[in-house]
Amino acid sequence: MLIGSKIIHLESVDSTNNYAANLVHQGDYAHGTVILSDDQFLGKGQRGSEWLTKKGENLTCSFIICPDKLSVDDQFYLTCLVALSTVDTLKDYGIDASIKWPNDIYVKQKKIAGILIENFLQGNLIKTSIIGIGLNVNSCPNAFNAICIQDLISETFKPFDILIRLVAKLNNWYPKFYNNSFNVLLTSYNNCLFGVNQLLKFEDDQGTFQGKVQKVTCNGMLEVEVENEIRNYGIKQIIWHFESMT
Ligand code: BTN
Repeated sequence: MLIGSKIIHLESVDSTNNYAANLVHQGDYAHGTVILSDDQFLGKGQRGSEWLTKKGENLTCSFIICPDKLSVDDQFYLTCLVALSTVDTLKDYGIDASIKWPNDIYVKQKKIAGILIENFLQGNLIKTSIIGIGLNVNSCPNAFNAICIQDLISETFKPFDILIRLVAKLNNWYPKFYNNSFNVLLTSYNNCLFGVNQLLKFEDDQGTFQGKVQKVTCNGMLEVEVENEIRNYGIKQIIWHFESMT
């Protein structure tokens, strides 16, 4: 059940998520396997975007996780598991990070890491999950509103060393996930939530508006207060506007 008991370290790959997906398709995988690549030439980001990296400078890795009877309705807790582990990893370096809903990791209003989760379903259950993490360590190739560890502590780090810490944090949090302690995961996630009670600019299908993030609900929706009214948004229903945040 340990995460990271097998680490596949590649020099270069299109995408560690794709590499992991191929292993899953071939049936050639075990829970907890990690794929790390020094370079990634077709890295995938959320919503079809690309994820850029610089050879040897940043962490690009994917974890193959086989949850035990996790319903698709509870998939948000996978996000909690990974986001919290990433925040804790950064804490080891003295970096205070927060989670921008749903799955971006931010420091000082800039993105330091992104998470891409791809699930293989069996009926209503998540049989296997591929959790990809891209963390800016020594450079910020995804330049828009980005920051890296080196910007914050003026030191160069080996992505592999950061991976080892991340693996330890995932193993710390995994029992909460495995034992269905979802309330603990959600409370911890909300304790790290980015932008709470700050007046920020958003957009929904009615146009742009200002609101204050309150929390994330147990079904993974973002609760925003807009002019004394509470609204709940799913992932594709709201866009953050960052120009209002400087
Ligand atoms: C995002 O858009 O914020 C998600 C970025 C996820 C990037 C990581 S890097 C390792 C893994 N392999 C990929 O192709 N993408 C994820």
